[in-house]
Amino acid sequence: MAYKLGDVILSRETIARRVKEMAEQIAKDNGTENNLTFVGILTGAAFFLTDLVREMPENMDVKVDFMSVASYGDGTESSGVVRIFHDLKSSIEGKNVIVVEDIVDSGLTLSHLLGLLQNRNPASLKVCVLLDKYERRKTEVKVDYCGFRIPDKFVVGYGLDYAGKWRHLKDIKYVVEE
Ligand code: IMP
Repeated sequence: MAYKLGDVILSRETIARRVKEMAEQIAKDNGTENNLTFVGILTGAAFFLTDLVREMPENMDVKVDFMSVASYGDGTESSGVVRIFHDLKSSIEGKNVIVVEDIVDSGLTLSHLLGLLQNRNPASLKVCVLLDKYERRKTEVKVDYCGFRIPDKFVVGYGLDYAGKWRHLKDIKYVVEE
């Protein structure tokens, strides 16, 4: 089956406005004396994370690190057992960590990843996702900051891909059958 781009679900302006609000909320919750490490999950979340951290106040102590993980699965469903391809550069022990993910779907990947990170003894561990496909959840994940709750339909753009394609779109769009 071939797929093509469908309608816009979230425009670039809507995304930018919400990302700014989320950054303001994170800044308010954490205070300037609290150093924060944003951990982006590659590749999708890199787009969201770079916009998010640039909205943080200048006087805040903000660090950025990335991790690349893949979940073992049958290709369409994630199993939740994650393999680390690229680990963090710095230790998170004693740090206030915010994991940044593009989308939470079944929740299996994120919940396994949080288990791994918790074992490294951060001072705190929070989760920030741009999109939440809440209808698909198979395991409970505590999402501290969520951009948008969306229906159970495949979306691309602003970092999200379909088979490696369409990450570069400025808006988030549906994918439809051709
Ligand atoms: P899960 O929460 O373990 O099921 O997996 C979440 C991952 O599935 C995300 O990091 C995305 O890579 C991928 N994913 C889920 N839904 C979509 C979508 O609509 N578009 C693009 N990727 C998606």
